[in-house]
Amino acid sequence: MKNYLKHDAWNIIEEGFHRKHNQISESIFSLGNGRMGQRANFEEYFSGETLQGNYVAGIYYPDKTRVGWWKIGYPEYFAKVLNAANWNGIYIEFDGEVFDLNKCEVNDFYRVLNMKEGYLERRFEATLVSGKIVKVVAQRFCSIVDDQVGAIRYSFTPVNFSGPVNINLFVDADVVNEDSNYDEKFWIDVATDTENDQAYVIAETKKTAFQVATGMRFGVTADGEAVDYKVTHVKREKYAACVIDFDCEEGKEVVIDKIAANLSSMNYEKDALMENCQKVVNAAYEKGFVTMKQEQAAAWASKWEESDIKIDGDVSAQQGIRFNIFQMYQTYTGEDERLNIGPKGFTGEKYGGSTYWDTEAYCFPFYMATADQKVARNLLVYRYKHLDRAIENAGKLGFKDGAALYPMVTMNGEECHNEWEITFEEIHRNGAIAYAIYDYIEYTGDKMYLAEYGLEVLIGIARFWNQRVHFSSRKGKYVMHGVTGPNEYENNVNNNFYTNYIAAWCLKYAMEAIEFVKREAPDRWTAIEDKVKFYENTETGEWKKVVDNIYLPYDEEMKVFKQADGFFDKEWEKTVDDLKPEDRPINQNWSWDRILRSVYIKQADVLQGMYFFEDHFDEDTLRRNFNFYEPRTVHESSLSPCIHVVLAAKLGKLDKAYEMYLRTARLDLDDYNNDTEDGCHITSMAGTWLAVVKGFGGMRIKDGQLVFNTMLPEQWEGYSFKIRFRGSIVEVKVNKEGTTLVNHSDEALKVQLNGKEIDL
Ligand code: BGC
Repeated sequence: MKNYLKHDAWNIIEEGFHRKHNQISESIFSLGNGRMGQRANFEEYFSGETLQGNYVAGIYYPDKTRVGWWKIGYPEYFAKVLNAANWNGIYIEFDGEVFDLNKCEVNDFYRVLNMKEGYLERRFEATLVSGKIVKVVAQRFCSIVDDQVGAIRYSFTPVNFSGPVNINLFVDADVVNEDSNYDEKFWIDVATDTENDQAYVIAETKKTAFQVATGMRFGVTADGEAVDYKVTHVKREKYAACVIDFDCEEGKEVVIDKIAANLSSMNYEKDALMENCQKVVNAAYEKGFVTMKQEQAAAWASKWEESDIKIDGDVSAQQGIRFNIFQMYQTYTGEDERLNIGPKGFTGEKYGGSTYWDTEAYCFPFYMATADQKVARNLLVYRYKHLDRAIENAGKLGFKDGAALYPMVTMNGEECHNEWEITFEEIHRNGAIAYAIYDYIEYTGDKMYLAEYGLEVLIGIARFWNQRVHFSSRKGKYVMHGVTGPNEYENNVNNNFYTNYIAAWCLKYAMEAIEFVKREAPDRWTAIEDKVKFYENTETGEWKKVVDNIYLPYDEEMKVFKQADGFFDKEWEKTVDDLKPEDRPINQNWSWDRILRSVYIKQADVLQGMYFFEDHFDEDTLRRNFNFYEPRTVHESSLSPCIHVVLAAKLGKLDKAYEMYLRTARLDLDDYNNDTEDGCHITSMAGTWLAVVKGFGGMRIKDGQLVFNTMLPEQWEGYSFKIRFRGSIVEVKVNKEGTTLVNHSDEALKVQLNGKEIDL
C-alpha cells in the first residue's frame, strides 16, 4: 500500500516528484474520453521507468496465442488493445542538452488531475546537469466535447539562461506494446505528412487492418508574442514531426499549444482519413486551447451534476468515489454501441481485450442508474450481437444445438482467453450476462426487451447450462464438474456453489421469459421458436428437472454453503489473520500451487451469489455465510471489496462496510494490491459506486419500486447521490438527522424509504 497522493475532494495531487512511483502515477493520472485515452506519460523525453500508453477504443490486434501446451478449444489469438500513436511528445533540447526529468534535479513538482474540469496539469522547476533551470507548467486533456481531440498547453520559462532551444513536436505510431507474444510491432505505415505547423501519420494494424490517423498542429509564443522559429519537417516510417529552433530568453515564458486528433477507420472511410483528420485538427486548433478547456469544464460540470456522489466529513472517501466515477466516464460513455469497458480502460495494457463479465456484473448497474437508459440497453445488445459467436464458441468445446458460451474475454465476440482453467472452466460468466438482462428489466420496466433481444440470449445460455450439468446417480442430483468459480484461487473444482446456483437460476429465468414472450408477443415467440429451433416440451422439460434438482454443496457443521466440493477438506480453520504481512498479496509471494491448495479466496464467490440473489436467502443464512467467507477472502481481485460492502451494510456491519469501502474506493490511489503500475482497475470502480448506492444507500428494486434502506458510516457527516429511475431523477441525501429524498422530475413517484412507502 502506498500513501503519496494528497487527499483532496476534487483533485488527485502528487506533491514532489515520486520517481520510483512514476508508473503508478502514469496509471492514476490517465486521461480519456470514451473514444481515446492515454497514460499520464510526460510530454518531454523521459529516460526513467515508464510505460508508454495511448489507446483508441475498439482498435485491437489479434496476437497469436502463445501457450506452453496447446489444448483443443484454445482460441487462436488474444485480442490486445493497442498502444497507438503517441501524440503528446514535445521533446526539448536546450543548447543541445536533452530535457529529461530523469536526469534533472526536480523541485516543486506538483501534478494534479483536476476531476471537476477534466484536465491534467504538471508544474515543476528542473535543474539540468548543465545547471540551467527551467520552470514548466503543462496542461492537457482528452476532450469530451469532441472525443476525437486532445489538447496540450506546455509552457516553460528559462530561469537563469538564454540561448538556443530545439523543440520536436511529433506524432509517432512507431510504438510497441509491452505485452506482445512474439515481440513484434503491430502497426504498419500507411502515410505520413508534415508541412508548416502540422504533422500527420496514418498507420494500419496488422491482421485486423484498422487504420488510425493521428495528427497535430502547434503554435508557439514567448511572453504572448509570436516566436520567429525555423522549422524542419521530419518524416519517416510511421512518424512525422515539426522540429523548431529559436532562441529563448531568460525569464520569458514560452507557451506551446499542441492540438491533436485521432480518427479511425471504424468511423471513416480509409481514403478519407487524412483529409478528415486535418479538418478535425484545424477546427480544434482554430477554436483554441482556452475555449476548448472551458468547454471541457462545462461538459464535465454537467456530467458531475448528475453522477456526482458527495461525501461530507471524509476527504479520502470523497476523493476515492470521485476518482472512480471520473475514470468510469473517461473509459466508457455509452455513445458507441460497438464499444465496451475494458478492465484497465485506457490506463494500461493488461487484460488486453475489452469485455469481461466485469461489464455485466459490476459496471452495468452504474451506467443503468447514471446514464440514459439506452446506454444500459446498448450494453445488452452488444452481447446479443455476439450470440452467434457465443454459440460457435460453445461448439468448439463440444456443445451443440444452439448452446451459447460467452467468452471470458473478447473484442468481437470470439473467445480470446487462453488458460484452460479460465477459458473452459470459468463459465459462470454466462450467468452474469443473463443476470444483467434480468436486472435491466427489473430496473427499467422495459420487459419487451425480452421479446426483442433478451430471450434469444437466455435460451442460448440455458441450453449451455443444461448440457454442462450431468446427473449424479449417487447424489440423485444434477452436478457440475470441472469449473472455476469467481474465486480464481481454486481451479477445476466440482460443484462450485455460485456456478451451480446461477446456472439453475438462468434455466428458471429463461423459462419465465419464454412464458412472458409467448403471452405478450406471440408472433415474436413463433419467430424465435423457429429461428432457434426450439423444442419446447423436450427442452423446458429437461431444464425444469435441473432447476428442481440442482446440487448445492452445503456444510452441515458450519451451516454455510460450500464454495465447492472438498472446500472443507482444506485447512479451512485458517483465516487471513493467519497470514504474515510479507505473504501478502499472496499472488505476488506464493507459488501458484500453494495458492490453489490454500483456503484463501481471491474474491467474492459464495458471497457473489448472495449479493445477486439476496432475496433468495434469509438474513441468518446471509450472515453465516458472510461471517465465514469474509475472513478467508484476500480481495486480490479488485472486484471483491465492493460486494463485501453491499453485504456488510445489509447485515448492519458498518465498520466492515467502511473498511471495505475505502479498499474499493482507494484501491488504485493507495495501490492496495501493488499492481496499479499496470493500469487502474477500471471495472471495479463501478463497484465503488455500488458500494455507496446499494451498500450505504441500500438501493434496491422491489416489485418495480425503488427502495432505500439508508445508513451512515460514523466516519461520515453525510452523503448524497442521484440516480435515474424510469424517467425520474431521484436525489438521496443522508446525514445525521436522517434521509431526504428529492424527486427532480415532474412525475410523481412512490418509493420505499427505510420500510415506509412515501410519495415523492
Ligand atoms: C478477476 C476476474 C476478472 C478479471 C478482469 C481477474 O483478476 O479474478 O473476475 O474478470 O480479473 O477484471
